[in-house]
Amino acid sequence: MIKINEHYLKLKAGYLFPEIARRCAAFQEGHPEASIIRLGIGDVTLPLPGAVVEAFQDGVGEMAGAKGFRGYGPEQGYGFLRQAIVDHEYRPRNVELDCDEVFVSDGSKCDTGNIQEIFGLENRLAVCDPVYPVYVDTNVMAGRTGPGDESGRYQGIVYLACTPENNFRPAPPQKPVDLIYLCYPNNPTGVAADKAHLCKWVEYARENRAIILYDAAYEAFITSSDAPHSIYEIPGAKEVAIEFRSYSKSAGFTGVRCAFAVVPKQVKAYTASGEPVAVNPIWNRRHCTKFNGVSYPVQRAAAAVYSEAGKQQVRGLVDYYMENARLIREGLAELGYTVYGGVDAPYIWLKTAKGMASWAFFDHLLETAHVVGTPGVGFGPAGEGFFRLSAFGDRENVQAALERIGRL
Ligand code: MLT
Repeated sequence: MIKINEHYLKLKAGYLFPEIARRCAAFQEGHPEASIIRLGIGDVTLPLPGAVVEAFQDGVGEMAGAKGFRGYGPEQGYGFLRQAIVDHEYRPRNVELDCDEVFVSDGSKCDTGNIQEIFGLENRLAVCDPVYPVYVDTNVMAGRTGPGDESGRYQGIVYLACTPENNFRPAPPQKPVDLIYLCYPNNPTGVAADKAHLCKWVEYARENRAIILYDAAYEAFITSSDAPHSIYEIPGAKEVAIEFRSYSKSAGFTGVRCAFAVVPKQVKAYTASGEPVAVNPIWNRRHCTKFNGVSYPVQRAAAAVYSEAGKQQVRGLVDYYMENARLIREGLAELGYTVYGGVDAPYIWLKTAKGMASWAFFDHLLETAHVVGTPGVGFGPAGEGFFRLSAFGDRENVQAALERIGRL
């Protein structure tokens, strides 16, 4: 008799964003005349930058001829893209990496979900609360947790509450943990970490021989000068941190799909008897076994992000979304909402009106203003009473959404 992986049965509801889409579709069906403004999932709305499109098309053009045709590429990514990442993302920040420490992939969602596979099931996990649900759900699926409780917290995970009192930047826990997920600039709260905060985490990871899984998918949106763009700007981080980056939000690749993970050769995990094992070759082994690489035209498109024109055009996209973020943040504050984030990230985290529960506020906004956001509690119990708005909409919609919220 075939057995199911019962760990999947521990998962609470459906994945957050499909659940939101389901509720929107149900509302739209009942109200076909309503024009819904979607500021829920962080999906980009502006088209691909011209330099990216041109390189993408060139890549396809090459594939159309016998000379330029390519079959399987290197699973870890073509050398031209890995080198461009080292040269343009890291060297300007005084971080030296080798190309074989960079693994090109089809997205940070996949990378942050897959990485846990190479670590033992007995590892103790720490996540922020609220948190990007992928980190938790993939560990539940793997069997690294016990059952979930009523509030949605799983046994065996150390939850670090992110609250206004700690500026949504929780300190390392008192007890030792082994695998730590950090995301800065943060999804969903929209705040960035400063250097001092990250130093505490790196120190903690070194003392406890732990590993930090650092999701920096939103680093392009940082505007504060004291917020590191990479965890490797912190001394010692290359021994204890794996970093995830993405072209999705900055260069409009949510549909195109391209991202990368950095696994420095110094990062070690340990056998049961305490022998150190380098993580880079293990991740390489996993990556080559389960992944056949990102397509050549997509990697050409990603590399174009680093051309002079590409850099300028990507900056234009980021600035546009951050202007949306400013409008939302200031517009809501004027309406009397308590708002956070939106300065170093394209997300605004707000307290719901009149202390409503997150899903009640979601329904209220959808039904009365036809505006969709993301209920804070969907990211964890500490998100209850909060709500996330994405700044990735187009300007007209953002302004219309603010007007509608203002009329409530
Ligand atoms: C979000 O809205 O939190 C993101 O779009 C999710 C993702 O990047 O997978």
